Amino acid sequence: MPITILIGAQWGDEGKGRVVDWLAASADIVARYAGGDNAGHTVALDGEVYKLHLVPSGILHSNVVSIMGNGMVINPVNLLREIEALRRIGVDIRPERLVISSRAHIITPAHVALDKAKELALGDGKIGTTLRGIGPAYLDKTGRAGIRTGDMLLDVEEFADRLVSAIEASNEDLRAQGLETLDAREAAQSYLEAADFLRPYIKDVSIYLHEALKNGKLVLCEGAQGTLLDIDHGSYPFVTSSSPTAGGALTGLGVGPLHVDRVLGVAKAFSTRVGGGPMPTELDGDIAEHFRGSGANFWDEFGTTTGRPRRCGWLDVVMLRYAVSVNGFSELMLTKMDILSGLEELKLATAYDIDGERHHYPPVTNEQLERAKPIYETMPGWRENISNCRSFNELPAAARQYINRVAELCDVPIDIVSVGPERDQLVQKAAAPTAAFKR
Ligand code: IMP
Repeated sequence: MPITILIGAQWGDEGKGRVVDWLAASADIVARYAGGDNAGHTVALDGEVYKLHLVPSGILHSNVVSIMGNGMVINPVNLLREIEALRRIGVDIRPERLVISSRAHIITPAHVALDKAKELALGDGKIGTTLRGIGPAYLDKTGRAGIRTGDMLLDVEEFADRLVSAIEASNEDLRAQGLETLDAREAAQSYLEAADFLRPYIKDVSIYLHEALKNGKLVLCEGAQGTLLDIDHGSYPFVTSSSPTAGGALTGLGVGPLHVDRVLGVAKAFSTRVGGGPMPTELDGDIAEHFRGSGANFWDEFGTTTGRPRRCGWLDVVMLRYAVSVNGFSELMLTKMDILSGLEELKLATAYDIDGERHHYPPVTNEQLERAKPIYETMPGWRENISNCRSFNELPAAARQYINRVAELCDVPIDIVSVGPERDQLVQKAAAPTAAFKR
């Protein structure tokens, strides 16, 4: 069956962009289904580094159609900028190659202003959002007050009126907080220009996919953010406002579950998090620095969208086990295994001790999670640089042991790991049934 869903199993930044890029080589369609330009997917290709925020990573393959689903929130001006930047470096973007759902919601300049205002008002308790207007846009969506990409297909004046009314409505909220309001007509101007460009790209994605699936096309759903940032299943309220999990792919694209035959989780070989909220295995000091890197390399642990240093820690198997259960992963892939090289020993958090009780899954409240003491299992490390390994047998025994133990603790197969950012820096088990997108 033709749909693979790829999902971040942690707090985002798992290296999904590079996995999507790899799988896209044998897919027909790559579809984003949640989030907006809060995402930052990095793909390294022939020495070039591509940073994508809105456009699906499939765009780097000439044979793939990229889709932006109804579950997304889209800032049309930022999308236009991203398309222009990609075109400047030779990426072919035409309406035949990029399809934007007519049911996605539009992020207005007022949403961006409100995001900043809310974070400011929360002070020390802030969520640490990416300040892209994501939360306020989803709030208008669920409050039935949003405007949609399909509205860009209306007569220009009518779209302008809707946009201006939406901004003016948000101005009320800004005013209520004593903040500067926006000149709605002026703020709308760049949106009208973007709408003019984007119009031919806007279609009914659900119907497009329905037809494509009937014609035997293979679809890869590209998750953004991660399971632990999910509005329902993440560590609320320190989450994003969408559903990056497996269920979100279906509602965020308008496809039925019977088309899905593979749910691939992607996790980093250690843990990272940006923004606020509890992170039980967070570390300070040398090991955190080892994971984070200096920032000199694009793969170091600094946000692709915000540049913020990421919080780093040991691999949290409790969270990973939870991600397996929420998404029903058919398999898990570990990225950045090469970063573990050079550490004397490695730790896996296999359970939490909370007030003297052992927990194998995360508790529901952040208060409990703040008190969670990880129970670690210590494993031997390895010194060798593994970035040139291409088969499991070439990996040091300790690396294989680490991978197998994570698979065992999460009760899910791990047949593929990455050992560097380039397309070919993947290690697959010899008989991995999962190695390619199945035709
Ligand atoms: P928002 O999505 O900008 O509202 O941010 C909400 C939370 O999700 C914050 O903790 C962000 O740091 C986090 N977040 C949003 N997008 C990403 C991402 O792509 N990677 C990692 N964290 C993210």
